[in-house]
Amino acid sequence: MVYTRISAAEAAAMIKNGENISLSGFTPAGTAKAVTRELAKRATAEHEAGRPFQVGIFTGASTGESTDGVMSAAGAIRFRAPYITNAEFRKHVNNDEFAYADYHLSMMAQNLRYGFLGEVDWAILEVCDIEENADTCKAYLTAAGGIAPTAARLAKHVILELNSFHSKDIKLSHDVYEPLDAPHRQPIPIVNVGDRIGKQYVEIDARKIVGVVECNIPDEARGFKEQDEVTTQIGINVAAFLSNDMKRGIIPSSFLPLQSGVGSTANAILGALGADKHVPDFNIYTEVLQDSIVGMMLNGRVKDASTCSLTVTNECLKEVYDNMNYFKDHLTIRPSEISNNPEVIRRLGVIAINTAIEADIYGHVNSTHIGGTKMMNGIGGSGDFERNAYISIFTCASVAKGGCISAIVPRVSHQDHSEHDIDVIVTEYGVADLRGKSPTQRAQLIIENCAHPDYRPLLRDYLKLCNKGHEPQNLAASFAMHDTLLRKGDMRLTEFAEYIHA
Ligand code: COA
Repeated sequence: MVYTRISAAEAAAMIKNGENISLSGFTPAGTAKAVTRELAKRATAEHEAGRPFQVGIFTGASTGESTDGVMSAAGAIRFRAPYITNAEFRKHVNNDEFAYADYHLSMMAQNLRYGFLGEVDWAILEVCDIEENADTCKAYLTAAGGIAPTAARLAKHVILELNSFHSKDIKLSHDVYEPLDAPHRQPIPIVNVGDRIGKQYVEIDARKIVGVVECNIPDEARGFKEQDEVTTQIGINVAAFLSNDMKRGIIPSSFLPLQSGVGSTANAILGALGADKHVPDFNIYTEVLQDSIVGMMLNGRVKDASTCSLTVTNECLKEVYDNMNYFKDHLTIRPSEISNNPEVIRRLGVIAINTAIEADIYGHVNSTHIGGTKMMNGIGGSGDFERNAYISIFTCASVAKGGCISAIVPRVSHQDHSEHDIDVIVTEYGVADLRGKSPTQRAQLIIENCAHPDYRPLLRDYLKLCNKGHEPQNLAASFAMHDTLLRKGDMRLTEFAEYIHA
């Protein structure tokens, strides 16, 4: 049997105002791209004709220009979850033009299954290959696992984007597994990074497939800023800290799997770890694999990697596809519910390293909201990994915007991760090892080891103003640095006296 071939515009024409669509992919990697481009055009035409047209969009993580970019620009989004990185989308969401809910990425598929977010009307999956059977379709995903298996099972209708840009051989790395829900859920049987527990394909009831859109569209993973002196130093500090923990016997001599976030800092850390001869060859258990890891896999520095997506440049993706004979045995791509699963992360003893927007002197972390108000990207998988890691590390540059902003503040302006979950904070100035420390001991360490020297006197002054207690605070002054930034454009101009009332 051969399923009906349709154009992307024909597919988009079937989706009704108010419906919910759910997409394959995780980051721009593996995200369906053809139909959403047409859906944005359709929304524009409907709006011009004076008719409403907006849909809800559920994904594994962020998407690229072909979804979040064009759909937000066209005003075609009613609701969106769980993570974004697109600048256009950010502009609209921070203007409060539509609803966006930020969830831990491990929870997105189960949130859909539990019915928390409403019905899934459509699943649109990017695939590299299809077995077109009359009863059950076998759909082979491309560069990511995401929430595709759940989306396909829950959706009333399914559209497949058969994208010939991707190699069909990538199917050899997929491990598709969807857990049952409570009270029937079983342990997830992953005990080693490379364990395979599922199938290479997503199973879909063929009666739900309304059409196949054939296309050839490159992936849209963005490039990251080049590593600089600051990120390089952070990388060196993290590598030195971990190799010291190994020497002390805290990390086993065989080492433990690493998770590292996305971005230039993450790349620098992995580069520094790769170069540190005290650190043995290691494994990766993560949600997003970047170019630097692919290189380290090819030279044997990284042995096995489990990820949810290949968020790599298209040149790097081609390198993976050209070497599938190697990668099929060393690279596993899982759905986000599994790559980010708390049970598995804790069992494997993953060392988590993610980037903060700001951290406070007691070790609470803001990953998401600039100035406590404007959404940056979302929590992503940082909570999934940091909360359950063997060692939870957050890194950041000590200052932002040319020094006008300190990343170490008396109190974070928005809190995503709490002091209870974080073991270590690292900036280019050093490491604050918070394990076994009281709040006041943590504050000393974070100020003296991590804060920029320009801000240390201010932070020490804040501590002197605090009311005595287990975690001393002066509530009136705790946001003084943020408020000064808003009023004067530079946190260094903070005068705590202005905030203390007699
Ligand atoms: N106040 C205001 N702006 C700040 C800031 C602060 N305290 N700290 C950073 N910024 C700004 C930077 O100046 C930069 O602005 P620009 O884009 O105008 O240059 C921007 O935020 C990004 O900062 P950058 O230093 O380039 O960091 P990054 O690319 O490493 O990203 C996060 C840092 C926190 C935004 C990013 O890691 C993230 O979104 N994390 C949450 C999700 C996550 O951790 N996922 C898990 C792993 S995939």
